[in-house]
Amino acid sequence: MSVSEEIPGAREARAICATRSNDPSMLLEILHDLQVRVGHIPGESVPILADCLNLSKAEVYGVVSFYHDFRTEPGAPITVRICQAEACRSMGAEALTERLLSRYGVSLSEISAAGVTFEPVYCLGNCALAPAAMVDGALIGRADGAAVDAAIAEAGR
Ligand code: FES
Repeated sequence: MSVSEEIPGAREARAICATRSNDPSMLLEILHDLQVRVGHIPGESVPILADCLNLSKAEVYGVVSFYHDFRTEPGAPITVRICQAEACRSMGAEALTERLLSRYGVSLSEISAAGVTFEPVYCLGNCALAPAAMVDGALIGRADGAAVDAAIAEAGR
């Protein structure tokens, strides 16, 4: 392991930049992906992102500090409950769960690097708006990946 790989978020930052062709116009997307993977934007990753994207550290830091959705410190674990009962299963809860687990790189009940854990639940009393999910106590109807991601980002503030 090289010294730079021991820096928090370094490996992830380089890998995410590479998947976005080290394109500086993709900085926002890269920061979002890094936060999903690591749970926050480690300060140590700023010079690495700047190097990969051929930007100044000030440019990267400026974007991180401007958008309140980006966290620079790790947060407490966030619990996502996705209903697996009949009404929600018939509306795609199983596929939604699989997509989210894959995206966050975990199995049920594991805690992701981003500090998120997914738990099954059997009816949240929101069957009319299936599939239903709950993120740290906030109920989501007609849940999809974007809505769950947004709720996770909100819970992490
Ligand atoms: S079956 Fe999912 S909320 Fe009731």
